[in-house]
Amino acid sequence: MKAFVREQEAVSDVASRAAADALEAIQEERQLPPSNVFWQQGKVSPTNRQALFGHRPATIWLTGLSGAGKSTIAFELERQLLTDGRPCFVLDGDNLRHHLNRDLGFSADDRRENIRRTAEVALLMNEAGLIVICSLISPYRDNRALAKEIIGEKRFIEVYVSTAPEVCEARDVKGLYAKARAGKIASFTGVSSLYEAPLAPALAIDTGAIPLADSSRAIFDHLAKEFFGALD
Ligand code: ADX
Repeated sequence: MKAFVREQEAVSDVASRAAADALEAIQEERQLPPSNVFWQQGKVSPTNRQALFGHRPATIWLTGLSGAGKSTIAFELERQLLTDGRPCFVLDGDNLRHHLNRDLGFSADDRRENIRRTAEVALLMNEAGLIVICSLISPYRDNRALAKEIIGEKRFIEVYVSTAPEVCEARDVKGLYAKARAGKIASFTGVSSLYEAPLAPALAIDTGAIPLADSSRAIFDHLAKEFFGALD
C-alpha cells in the first residue's frame, strides 16, 4: 500500500512538474518577441514627449452598463481637455465596433478580445503622449485587469460609471433594453449577461445623481492632480 501511495505521489510530482514546465514555457513565449524581429529604438524619449505636452500620459477607463453615461462623460472630458490644450482621444466601444472591432460580437471571448485590442491601442496612444479616454462596458473584472496589465498600472485609471441599472434601463436611449427584454438581443449586459462592478475604482460616478459637467470635472481634476505638469 505504502509503495502504491509513493508511486502515486511520484506520478503526481511528475504531473505537477510537467504543468509547471508548460506554464513556464507559455510565460517565456509571451515575453519573448517573435523570432527574427528586433526592437528599433527611436530618438524621442517619453520624457521629451511629456515635456512637450506638459503631462504624463494616462488612460481613463470608463466602465459601466449601457446607458450609464460613459460616452457622454468621455466626449465632454475630451472637449474639456482639448480646450485646456491637452492632446487626447476617446476610444468608444460602440465606435470601435464600427471598424477595428467590427468582427467581434458579445460572447465572453469576443468581449475579451474587444478589451484587449482597445487596451493595446490605448497603450500606443499613451506612448505617443496622448491622454486616452476609453469608454466600454467592459463587464468582466479579469478583462479590465488585462487592460490594466497591457496599459500599465501607473497610467490606468479605472472610473466606474455607477448609474443604477433601473436608471439606465429607464433611459434606454438606444432602445436596446426594450429589445433585450423582448428577447431580440442575446447576452445583453445587465439583462441576460453579467456585469461585474469594479471593487476599487479610482473614481465612481453616478450620472443619475451628478450633473454631466461635475462628472467630467471630477475626472479632469483627478488628472490635473496626478498627471499634469509631472515628468516620470
Ligand atoms: S463590451 O461589453 O464588449 O465592453 P462595448 O462597450 O464594446 O461592449 O459595446 C457596447 C455597446 O454595444 C452598447 O453600448 C450597445 O450599444 C451595443 N450592444 C449591442 N449588443 C449588446 C449586448 N448584447 N450587450 C451589450 N451591449 C450591446
